[in-house]
Amino acid sequence: MATVLDSVRAFFAHSAFTIDQENAGDVVARERLLDRVMGEARFRKSSETLRRGRLPAEGLAFVARDAEGHVIGTVRLWNVEAGVDADGNAVPALLLGPLAVDCEHEGKGIGGALMRAAITEARDRGHGAVLLVGDPEYYERFGFFAAKAQHLVMPGPFERRRFLALELKDGWLDGAAGVLVPSGRRRVMPAARKAA
Ligand SMILES: CC(C)(COP(=O)(O)OP(=O)(O)OC[C@H]1O[C@@H](n2cnc3c(N)ncnc32)[C@H](O)[C@@H]1OP(=O)(O)O)[C@@H](O)C(=O)NCCC(=O)NCCS
Repeated sequence: MATVLDSVRAFFAHSAFTIDQENAGDVVARERLLDRVMGEARFRKSSETLRRGRLPAEGLAFVARDAEGHVIGTVRLWNVEAGVDADGNAVPALLLGPLAVDCEHEGKGIGGALMRAAITEARDRGHGAVLLVGDPEYYERFGFFAAKAQHLVMPGPFERRRFLALELKDGWLDGAAGVLVPSGRRRVMPAARKAA
């Protein structure tokens, strides 16, 4: 009996995962994971121009870990201005991405758990809306729809049907129109630090 229990435990221990805030020690593993899952093409996406040289929004970088603590999933959110409202005021929002899960662990609910953690934390922190570029067939289950982003544009090529938004506060994107621009904290590069 003990052998059966041990093998059941081993099975669940292997499939178990946790969602955590990303920390500095996760950066190398996260980048390796993104290289494996998305390859070099990730640096050519229009979303990347909104992330380059910036830090993720405060408290909004997450990893999924396996039972041994290895990084097997990642998602981050970034501060942007989502065009302007009817009065010409910039509309603060978040851009989500990249979301990625290690191929070996796909289909276990890890992507969904990362999404729910990110959305819950963004709402708790008082943010009004989240935008992303991704497959509606996947993201609509979390409440993301193209209609909410219909008057906004990415700063580069994008597919309109894949440009999606979720309002965390009702009506946050009403009247929002224009190009997304980055508004997050700037990343201090080592060379700049040396020069300062
Ligand atoms: C998309 C991704 C994050 C999903 O992670 P995951 O942990 O496998 O997701 P979940 O286990 O929560 O959900 C799996 C379900 O989503 C579905 N799904 C995954 N990607 C999908 C897509 N692009 N379109 C439609 N459905 C999709 C799966 O078929 C599965 O459906 P089921 O529940 O009916 O079986 C993962 O497949 C991945 O990293 N893909 C490559 C990177 C990528 O495309 N990222 C998104 C763009 S930034």
